Amino acid sequence: MISATQAPSLCKAYEPYFRVGAALSSWLVKDPELVEIVCRHFNSITADNQMKPDSVLNLEGTLAQGDPCHAATDFTRVDALLSFARDHQLSVRYHVLAWHNQTPVWFFKKDWENDREAPFAPKEVILARLENYIRDVMQHVNTCFPGVVYTWDVVNEAIEPDQDGPGLYRTRSPWFTAAGQDFLPAAFRAARRYAAPGQTLCYNDYNAFEPVKRDAILDVLKMLKAENLVDTMGMQGHYLLPHLDIAACETAARAYAALGLKLQVTELDIHCNSDDEAHVAALAEAYRSWFAMIKKLVKEGIPVEAVTFWGVTDADSWLPGFRKEPSYPLLITADRKTKPAFDAVLREAEL
Ligand code: XIL
Repeated sequence: MISATQAPSLCKAYEPYFRVGAALSSWLVKDPELVEIVCRHFNSITADNQMKPDSVLNLEGTLAQGDPCHAATDFTRVDALLSFARDHQLSVRYHVLAWHNQTPVWFFKKDWENDREAPFAPKEVILARLENYIRDVMQHVNTCFPGVVYTWDVVNEAIEPDQDGPGLYRTRSPWFTAAGQDFLPAAFRAARRYAAPGQTLCYNDYNAFEPVKRDAILDVLKMLKAENLVDTMGMQGHYLLPHLDIAACETAARAYAALGLKLQVTELDIHCNSDDEAHVAALAEAYRSWFAMIKKLVKEGIPVEAVTFWGVTDADSWLPGFRKEPSYPLLITADRKTKPAFDAVLREAEL
């Protein structure tokens, strides 16, 4: 194991294939050694939280504006990360415009009431708020930071075929409750209107490799694609070490690409609850074979825009908190050394 500041660059090794990215927190970009690691190994970044609606939407400003269809925004946190990216020549995937999580309750409520029990605003109002929000974010980002963002997560996690009986959509979502399934194409239409040339529009979801969910996603993507609203399928890529089904990932990736879409793996990590020797070796083999699979697809001509890890080192992974147990899911240890998994992924690029 060597320091991640010394190891050969991961993103350089994969330059012929795709961008290699990482999700960053705001505290992370204040640590000079972590910044060095990010700039050495990654050429794309995502904000882990700073670009989500709850980090951008501003209740006080919204109430002061007094417009039922137009929420006020505060881009302080967005701008901090975009300036970091611009100053370090990193490309950004913007995560995320429409999502059921981390969007304030009041955004969906009549008179912007900040109360879970308050009635929802009418559908037309919700769709107008969505359009205005997407326009405000995209115009701000593209005006103040031209050329920095290359792709937008327009909608995240809106498809859930197993929930509450038949149907393709996640019904337990304020978007669905307030506006029904129409919010999806509405979000993409708005994003298409305000995207800069060359930026791709992405639908992003987890467990996108599972056959039932995959087929539901394919059905929805077909509808969006028929209107030329979507460019990229984002497979999040949160996997569990003993259950990583690479063949299922490959089948799903091929099916999305067959619709004429580009692919991204947007939130790659492999949950691994021990760092003993056997687990470390198993993680390395899992990553190696996963990268071999994705590389094979690229060699066949399937366009993969980027593979993004959800974190830089194990110390900043969201998984211990989410899984409520230890996790060692990334390529770099908490003390910033490269793991055998790092070496395996690097070697795979050279084959
Ligand atoms: C996670 C962040 O990493 C955490 O810090 C936050 O508390 C919850 O959200 N799918 C997504 C990401 O699309 O936005 C989530 O990020 C992880 C799951």
